[in-house]
Amino acid sequence: MTAFNLETASESGPPINPALIAEAAQRLAQGGLVAFPTETVYGLGADASNPQAVSKIYALKGRPSHHPLIVHIASQAELNYWAINVPHYAHTLMKTFWPGPLSLILPRAPRVSDWITGGQNTVGLRCPSHPHAQALLSACAKAGIYGVAAPSANRFGHISPTTAAHVTEEFGPQLLVIDAGPCTIGIESTIVDCSGMAPVLLRPGSISREQIKQAIGIPVQERHANSPRVSGSLPAHYQPHTPTRLWQAHEEISNCSSKTGLFAFQKPKGFEGFFIPAPSQPDAYAQTLYASLRNLDAAKLQYILIQAPPEDLEWEAINDRLQRACAPHNTLQQKREF
Ligand code: TXA
Ligand code: MG
Repeated sequence: MTAFNLETASESGPPINPALIAEAAQRLAQGGLVAFPTETVYGLGADASNPQAVSKIYALKGRPSHHPLIVHIASQAELNYWAINVPHYAHTLMKTFWPGPLSLILPRAPRVSDWITGGQNTVGLRCPSHPHAQALLSACAKAGIYGVAAPSANRFGHISPTTAAHVTEEFGPQLLVIDAGPCTIGIESTIVDCSGMAPVLLRPGSISREQIKQAIGIPVQERHANSPRVSGSLPAHYQPHTPTRLWQAHEEISNCSSKTGLFAFQKPKGFEGFFIPAPSQPDAYAQTLYASLRNLDAAKLQYILIQAPPEDLEWEAINDRLQRACAPHNTLQQKREF
């Protein structure tokens, strides 16, 4: 993807509604759930210090209880509440990319409970740049809530939401959603494990490995056997309900009918199925990907084909999501193996 641009990263969109932010902060303080926008995808939030509140996230999402959650903080002022022994390179990453679409896995402070970390000795922290998320997190911090645990606001394994309407599709109208229009990035944050001597890339995102290397002067390493577990790295994730697979432009589409869906850079000659054009640039592609998958899914097709993007590094995060979106549906087995 094009390097994430810190200067132009500020969001435009609907104005912040202070009354809604206050209501959302109050619901969180009372142990309730609130969905809110970030620059990546919408999150399903709960007070990260309240075990009953956090358990509601797992119940609503249908997420296995040993999968860890990212804690969202308003600023670096909350860092030491959650993390200890933060390595120097992690401080540099925070200084360079926060607030923004970067989550860091850090050694957890003793007060951080197993129900946030999935029993691991690390905690995931993210400081989002989205103004509505910032407003909510700041209101929470003032009310004594120093972190909001928030996974993507979708049922476990399903497509992440990039609009408030997607969240309501997932969980129904009774969930309070702060609606700030479509997310500008559209795929989840880059996750870097900073619990060891060198950074490890756990999930690619719009902040690229090249940008990370430029910021800290050392290359980010690949996941290894002892890396923390990340549910986004399960083989099947981000999935439409309709069977979906990658398609190469030179492949013939067999049994093509009006019930065939295609998300591709160009419509093949004679294709008569349900076609959604894919943007040719990675940033625009990421922004529209999940909404396009949802539209294809809603069309009740027999199957969906997604044209495989180039293999270049700038498509790395997108190719990562597409591989998982197109993996065989084996979520139940994964739940046991994770
Ligand atoms: O962009 C994002 O990161 C969005 C927005 C809402 O902030 N959140 C998001 O959360 O994608 P979720 O839960 O869908 O994905 C977070 C990933 C999971 O794969 C989880 O396993 C991993 O982060 N994670 C969280 N805490 C961790 C920890 N302590 N160690 C290892 N992985 C962790
Ligand atoms: Mg998710």
